[in-house]
Amino acid sequence: MIDIHTHVLPMIDDGPTTVQESLEMCRIAEKDGIQQIIATPHIQDGINDEYENNVLKKLSMMNQLLQQEGIDIELFPGAEVYLNDHLLKEEILKQSKLLTMNGGKKYVLLEFSFQWIPPETEKVIFQLKTTGLTPILPHLERNSAIQSDPGMLLRFVEMGAILQVTAQSIAGDFGTAPEKCALWMLKNNLVHIIASDAHSPVKRPPVLSRAVRIVSDLLGKEVARKMVSEHPKMILEGTPFIM
Ligand SMILES: [Fe+2]
Repeated sequence: MIDIHTHVLPMIDDGPTTVQESLEMCRIAEKDGIQQIIATPHIQDGINDEYENNVLKKLSMMNQLLQQEGIDIELFPGAEVYLNDHLLKEEILKQSKLLTMNGGKKYVLLEFSFQWIPPETEKVIFQLKTTGLTPILPHLERNSAIQSDPGMLLRFVEMGAILQVTAQSIAGDFGTAPEKCALWMLKNNLVHIIASDAHSPVKRPPVLSRAVRIVSDLLGKEVARKMVSEHPKMILEGTPFIM
């Protein structure tokens, strides 16, 4: 399996606070059957002059450590870009300067607030698609506006956005509302990818297998497998997204 949304690098965001904790998360992922992980630290404006120094250096340090420790996990670079007012107002979207998944200039992991959906969302999706970028919208099942009106998601998907649901939402760890919304999305073919959005070894671990079991029972093994291997592979390799 490939996990495309994780906060696995140490001392960068609200993810692990030590290298040991980061390694522990990778051990858990390996045990769960994950082989490749995209590290997606929170990056406010989607552009970060320190990215190379900060994120890429830490990523290669961690990959070396993983080899030394005999942990069969490979980390790749990414970012979770928060759609803030600055990003909406500035010309960043048009300039294609946003940090992309595995640096492939194809996919952007674009996070919203958990409370609401910006009215400009459709415009943003359109602008990104025009510049050749496909937005991946993470964990909208946890967004209260979507929980009240999940039909909004149909339009996002029609416009070419990819929807990523968080494994722990499917497993019910975040409560009834996200679980209910995630199941509704699954039943309505509105889930392209399942990722862990892991932040720690204990409370938010990089585990996909629990969600895979639930989705396999609901929609079949093949559908579940696509959401954790085939579709994530397209993101990692920057190839066109084919359902
Ligand atoms: Fe995240």
